[in-house]
Amino acid sequence: MSDIPQLTLNDGYRLPQLGIGVWQIDESTTPGVVSAAVELGVRLIDGAFIYGNEASMGEGIRQTPIPREDLFVTSKVWNASQGHAAAHNAIEDSLNRIGLEYLDLLLIHWPCPARDQYVETWRALIEARNAGKVRSIGVSNFNPDHLDRLIAETGVTPAVNQIEINPRFQNADLRAANDARGIITQAWTPLGDGRSFDAPVISAAAKRTGKSPIQVILRWHLQLGHSVIPRSTKRTHLASNLDILDFRLSDTEMAALTALNADDRCGPDPIAFEAD
Ligand SMILES: NC(=O)c1ccc[n+]([C@@H]2O[C@H](COP(=O)([O-])OP(=O)(O)OC[C@H]3O[C@@H](n4cnc5c(N)ncnc54)[C@H](OP(=O)(O)O)[C@@H]3O)[C@@H](O)[C@H]2O)c1
Repeated sequence: MSDIPQLTLNDGYRLPQLGIGVWQIDESTTPGVVSAAVELGVRLIDGAFIYGNEASMGEGIRQTPIPREDLFVTSKVWNASQGHAAAHNAIEDSLNRIGLEYLDLLLIHWPCPARDQYVETWRALIEARNAGKVRSIGVSNFNPDHLDRLIAETGVTPAVNQIEINPRFQNADLRAANDARGIITQAWTPLGDGRSFDAPVISAAAKRTGKSPIQVILRWHLQLGHSVIPRSTKRTHLASNLDILDFRLSDTEMAALTALNADDRCGPDPIAFEAD
């Protein structure tokens, strides 16, 4: 779907606003999901070492006839690979597993502040970018103080901060902090474990627009201006998640969805998450 909007990153590269994530998709299912999504028009595929399916993500990419340069492939350095040398090894291993010469975007998956290694990990990402192994570099789950430390100590601002955003956990302050630093926000768990699918304001917007509650939520993400990477293993769902470009939520509907925020996370708090 060539009409998926693109966002311009602070390094000049362009990021499709809508893509897919492949967390919790098993290795045997991943190639078919990736190739079906690309066939339907998806160009942005969000993976990570810890998802355990980098090789099969690469297999799915190779099954598509789309030229490599038209795809946008993301991976992430896991917590156990933080540190300068370990991160360099992790980047090589991810490239080898996926079977690509370069990644479009590489993120530090979590800051793990207690480890206190994210600055040296960031230096490895900068070097990998300078060596042409990665086009854009960014972070995930970083708070403003983590962002500011990276920028102060290396002079390099992340291109992307991928964070939890869904109707019950809207993360507005962190979105604003990203904006203020010229960092593009990308939303993970954008559907919020289904916890707002039955909200009357979402049902009403779905009824008015002739769309599903999930399509309304994904449209809300697009209209907030960030990138979004919903996951699905089903072709009908993948197609319907793409079919959100032909309608608009009104200002009133956007405000009503904003009012659903309950600061209620699905995932861990980045301050405390240190899992290996
Ligand atoms: N950086 C991080 O720390 C972090 C953390 C979490 C996630 N992520 C990324 O964000 C991506 C998305 O988040 P997520 O995987 O947690 O969850 P999500 O995209 O919010 O939701 C996925 C769930 O929604 C269902 N679904 C999707 N489209 C649907 C549709 N049209 N109709 C009905 N059900 C639908 C899927 O089931 P079906 O398969 O049945 O469609 C699946 O159960 C991940 O895959 C990953 O790439 C990153």
